[in-house]
Amino acid sequence: MRIDIFCLFPDTFTSPLNHSIIKRARERGFVNVVIHDIRDYSHDKHHTVDDYPYGGGAGMVLKPEPIFEAVEATKQQLGANGIPVVLLTPQGRLFSQSVAQELALHSHIMLICGHYEGLDERVCEHLATDEISIGDYVLSGGEIAALVVIDAVVRLIPGVLGSPDSAEHDSHSNGLLEHPQYTRPPVYRDWSIPSVLLSGNHSEIAQWRRRQAILRTAKRRPDLLKKGNLCDEERKWMSENS
Ligand code: ADE
Repeated sequence: MRIDIFCLFPDTFTSPLNHSIIKRARERGFVNVVIHDIRDYSHDKHHTVDDYPYGGGAGMVLKPEPIFEAVEATKQQLGANGIPVVLLTPQGRLFSQSVAQELALHSHIMLICGHYEGLDERVCEHLATDEISIGDYVLSGGEIAALVVIDAVVRLIPGVLGSPDSAEHDSHSNGLLEHPQYTRPPVYRDWSIPSVLLSGNHSEIAQWRRRQAILRTAKRRPDLLKKGNLCDEERKWMSENS
């Protein structure tokens, strides 16, 4: 997969892209992340990328020309068309595991990071093909949001995670929060791990995990349970145990 990022603060990406799973995925060629500085596409000697809003008001607005030119030059260079061009904005559709799964199906995506108080609406209307928000809060810019999207998407690329089924067990991948996890020692201070996990009985462990995931989701995120595809027996068990 190739990911092109268009932003004003390229250095923001240095550390997050050079650690852990993303670093390994890049080194192994699963993903190629290319960062473009929008400022390189400005037209004047001061490298201006923003201007006052028409109609007045506080703050500055990112100009359309450098963003259009950066994205279009990259598309042309690659002979690439039909690539999703995703604008990170608090006004976009809400990011989720299923949106990550949708993006992970593409071999190439482009991410535009807005900044300052706003961005010329013509970028949204005529350049971006999708607008994504990572949550109902306002960040100073789209860079951190782009990193969130990249992290969630890259771990879904087949082969990136060590074990092929790791991503399938992640919270949200089946609509539920993940079950509790334990590792050694079996007793820490006075706290023992659930005995079923030492039983060696794989079907009982699987059932315990599934039920814990259901209970935890019911307690912490009841809104998610609708997506959890519970069978009648599980619903009955949940009503008796929560
Ligand atoms: N830029 C600023 N806030 C954002 C958010 N919540 N999601 C995506 N991009 C943003």
